Order: sequence, then C-alpha cells, then structure tokens
Amino acid sequence: MPSPLLPDTPQHILQLLSELHQKSLEQEAIISKKGKVFSADVLGDLEDKQPSSNPKDAFNKLMLDKFIALDEDKCQFTYQLINAMGATNVVEAGTSFGVSTIYLALAVAKSKAATGKAGTVIATENETEKAAVARKYWAQCGPDVEQQIDLREGDLLQTLQDGLPDVDLLLLDIWSALALPTLKTVLPRLRPGAVVLTDNTISGAKAYADLLAYLRDPSNGFQNQTLPFTNGFEMSVYMPQRQ
Ligand SMILES: C[S@@+](CC[C@H](N)C(=O)[O-])C[C@H]1O[C@@H](n2cnc3c(N)ncnc32)[C@H](O)[C@@H]1O
Repeated sequence: MPSPLLPDTPQHILQLLSELHQKSLEQEAIISKKGKVFSADVLGDLEDKQPSSNPKDAFNKLMLDKFIALDEDKCQFTYQLINAMGATNVVEAGTSFGVSTIYLALAVAKSKAATGKAGTVIATENETEKAAVARKYWAQCGPDVEQQIDLREGDLLQTLQDGLPDVDLLLLDIWSALALPTLKTVLPRLRPGAVVLTDNTISGAKAYADLLAYLRDPSNGFQNQTLPFTNGFEMSVYMPQRQ
C-alpha cells in the first residue's frame, strides 16, 4: 500500500525502511531501559561500570553493529521539510547503516525533479563496516536512491572540511559531543534560510548544552524551535544578519 507520507516511493523501499526501523528499535530496547539510546547516557553508564578501562573504546565497540536510526516520524518530517524547502543539498552528520539517508535521498530526488536544480545528499560515517552495510541497503533501494548520495568515510570533522556546496539542510544525528564542532565545520557553507535539525534536544539537553547555547545566542543568527517529537527534535533556521 502506498505511504501517504512518502508518495511515489516503491513498495520494496517502504518495506526495507519498515524492517530497518524495527531492527533499530529492537537493538535500542536491549541497550537502554528508556528504549532509546542517547550517546552521552550510554557513555556515562560505561564509565560507571568500567571505570578502569577506556569507556570511549567500549562505547565505539558497542555501537559498531547498532543502527541507532532516526525515529520514523522524524525521518518522515525531514522528508516533508526537504520538499517544502525545495532543498537539494543536504548534509547528514552521522549515517550509520544509512536509514535516515534513504529518506534524504528520496526527498532530494523529488526536490531536484521539482526545481530542476542539481544537488546531493552528503552522508558521513567513520566506521568502514557501517559504511559498507549502508551502501548495501542503498543498493537494495536502487539507483534512484544510490545516485543521490555522496558518502564521505572517515571523521566528519575532516571529511566535511572541503567540497561542500551551498547547504540547504544539515541533519545532526551524531554523538552529542560532536554536534557543535560539526555545526561549526558546516556553518560557512550554510545558505541563508538553511535548516539545521538536531535529534534528541529534550532528552539530551544537558549533553547538548554547548550546542543549544550556541544556537540560542541571537548573535549567531539562528531561529530555534523544539519540535514535540519524542525526546525533542530541534529545528533551527539560519538567518544571519546582513553585514
Ligand atoms: C545516531 S547514528 C546515525 C544514525 C543514522 N542517521 C540513521 O538514522 O540511520 C550516529 C553515527 O555517527 C557515526 N560517527 C560517530 N563519530 C563520527 C565521526 N567523527 N565521523 C563520522 N561519523 C561518526 C557513528 O559511527 C554512528 O554510526
């Protein structure tokens, strides 16, 4: 049955998305009593449990086979927003197995067809194994999805330094400590009116304190609203003052 939120999307892609969201939620339910994983909480628990070992290494190892996919309703909202904006250049900070990336690619393909503009989804992942799995899922979706994506492998603070177009939308779905450095890396390429979406800004408000303070400082040019999705989803519109 066609999805009212993703019209024209082939059934095999809708089926794949549904299966991947399900797998992600099952994994998160095992790791977190709250049912949703937030990086700072997991890292904090590991620090408490294994104070003598390196909790960051343990965290990275634990996350190696985990989706931690953006919630389905947030993915659908992002898809709608991309089409509403006519956005064609989108940066995704944190790709994992590429679930949210599929929505970004579907939406960008549609915006490109509607506006006649060029564009790309710039995806980022530093774990080689995760990047390979993401590519496999995109191949399953087909060339209409695959061809929209430029996956940059490695540390995004490096891979996003160069070769960015004027960016319409940045999705921050990354470990909380990396969110502000990522925003600052992409900021010079954000076009006026660009949107930054950040996941879990209610449940993660403490860990995101630096990012939220930056976004909410009027001199930095962002208009912010916390959208009432589970755990919060921050929508920040970049409206810098003209010099
Ligand atoms: C929350 S997950 C992304 C989920 C994805 N957006 C989705 O909805 O399927 C965050 C991902 O960021 C990756 N990551 C963490 N640090 C990174 C870095 N410095 N550079 C690139 N990717 C990184 C992690 O390996 C993890 O897979």
